[in-house]
Amino acid sequence: MNAPRNSLYRHIEAHRIAGSLGAEITGVDLSQDLPDEVTREINAALLDNQVIFFRDQSLSPENQLDFARRWGTLHQHPFMKGMDAYPDILEIRKTPADKKNFGGSWHSDQMFMDKPAMGTILYAKEVPSVGGDTMWTNLYLAYEALSDGMKAMLADLRGVSVGDHFKGHDGKSRKDFYADKLSMQVRDPGDIQTTNAHPLVRTHPETGRRALYVGGHVQGIEGWHPDESQPLLDFLMRHSVKPEFTCRFRWETGSLAFWDNRCTQHYAINDYPSETRVMHRITVSGDAPY
Ligand code: SIN
Repeated sequence: MNAPRNSLYRHIEAHRIAGSLGAEITGVDLSQDLPDEVTREINAALLDNQVIFFRDQSLSPENQLDFARRWGTLHQHPFMKGMDAYPDILEIRKTPADKKNFGGSWHSDQMFMDKPAMGTILYAKEVPSVGGDTMWTNLYLAYEALSDGMKAMLADLRGVSVGDHFKGHDGKSRKDFYADKLSMQVRDPGDIQTTNAHPLVRTHPETGRRALYVGGHVQGIEGWHPDESQPLLDFLMRHSVKPEFTCRFRWETGSLAFWDNRCTQHYAINDYPSETRVMHRITVSGDAPY
């Protein structure tokens, strides 16, 4: 079920980069106005592989926005300010002056929203000579590997996700966590509700497969005392990122990754202290998990 289905593609080719998830797609220039049948094949490749990669793309911000809009409306990060000229694009920038990085803990994008992001499209503008890779983990496999007993216990549980002060940031606000360590601009989310509960086991709306829906934003379990929920959440997080469920991508300038937040988590590796990395990120809005 998880194997690539190259034979079904007529316009693109998919080459798996790991046993568990991830494929490089060739045969498509994303700066072009893509015909519907190519878009459908890219969507099929995303569903088959959970995260897909394109290399050697030359994209203006408008090209990247046009590509992203093929998948739905765009979502702006409630806590991070988008680019002045393109508010739907978040520029992820880390220079030698920055000690922290953005996305440097396992998470699924915007889990703390009532409707978390369906997908994220990340385009590499400038990358370090070595380092700055990103990892993903397959949450279908993480769910399927659990015992029947654990699956039964999780079936009706809801994880409570928060948008700020989460464990991956040592419990600090984003503003304090980044302070003088990362120059990206944090903003106040205003009235937007950024604490929301979602099923710990979610059914993917397009594939019908079940995924273990955990990530760094999940801080509790609805109706459980923290002393009870924390050990279970610690186990589920550890389990969900076992190396066997993951892949790792080495960026080049012009690489683009498109991942499905409904069945993956990702982690941006901060291992390039004296170099600069600049990425343009767009998130596509999603549905309420069930
Ligand atoms: C993120 O969206 O979490 C950042 C990923 C990255 O920069 O590799």
